[in-house]
Amino acid sequence: MEIRGKITEDGSTTLYRPDLDEHYHSIHGAIQESMHVFIEAGLNKCKSDSLKILEIGFGTGLNALLTMLNSDRKQIVYHSIEKYPLEKNIVDKLNFPDIINSSVSANWFKKLHESQWNTEYEIEPWFKLKKIEADLLEHSFETEYDLVYFDAFAPEKQPELWDGKIFQKVFDSMSDSAILTTYCAKGSVRRAMLSCGFKVERIPGPPGKRQMMRAIK
Ligand SMILES: C[S@@+](CC[C@H](N)C(=O)[O-])C[C@H]1O[C@@H](n2cnc3c(N)ncnc32)[C@H](O)[C@@H]1O
Repeated sequence: MEIRGKITEDGSTTLYRPDLDEHYHSIHGAIQESMHVFIEAGLNKCKSDSLKILEIGFGTGLNALLTMLNSDRKQIVYHSIEKYPLEKNIVDKLNFPDIINSSVSANWFKKLHESQWNTEYEIEPWFKLKKIEADLLEHSFETEYDLVYFDAFAPEKQPELWDGKIFQKVFDSMSDSAILTTYCAKGSVRRAMLSCGFKVERIPGPPGKRQMMRAIK
């Protein structure tokens, strides 16, 4: 599968899939978007000292890295499902550790990518990662999550990942009052979430996007 690297407006890289005509992040700024949608609207709203997080779409590992960097050393179990793990030569094109410029980011980013798939791996004593190589359409989750980063490709490109059946599966794997955040603000996606029992709010989106959604179980 062809995957190309690209620089976004905040200087951080993203990837582009020509077959889908789709980027992994906003071209207005990959780090900026992930910080806004997943860290500020999601992680920072969770007050508990220990969290189980599910990410839909591990992709470049950016959300996992930003979660580590903004965790305040909460005890975090981070599960991320990915159907198409990236080859090392593609990961090597990503500049997130250089842009973030923290003493730990390069080491953590390397560990996030080098950890084995389908086993829980301790990146730091307070951060355990399990990358699940699987298709979201077929996978059943066995853990109860407190926070979900719903970061699939856009509903226009992969509508099957944004329908009521998928949201029901995710809803059923979340604890009471758990939060789901997504960059998407589309009406049909909102209705699919509401039909599963989520309370959904539209909140201001990252640069280049008027709104995003946050849902509470
Ligand atoms: C918007 S990108 C994710 C970006 C990622 N969170 C990051 O920070 O790089 C969507 C991701 O979903 C993955 N994906 C696509 N179809 C999938 C499926 N059916 N099941 C699981 N993952 C899928 C893609 O390969 C891609 O990595």
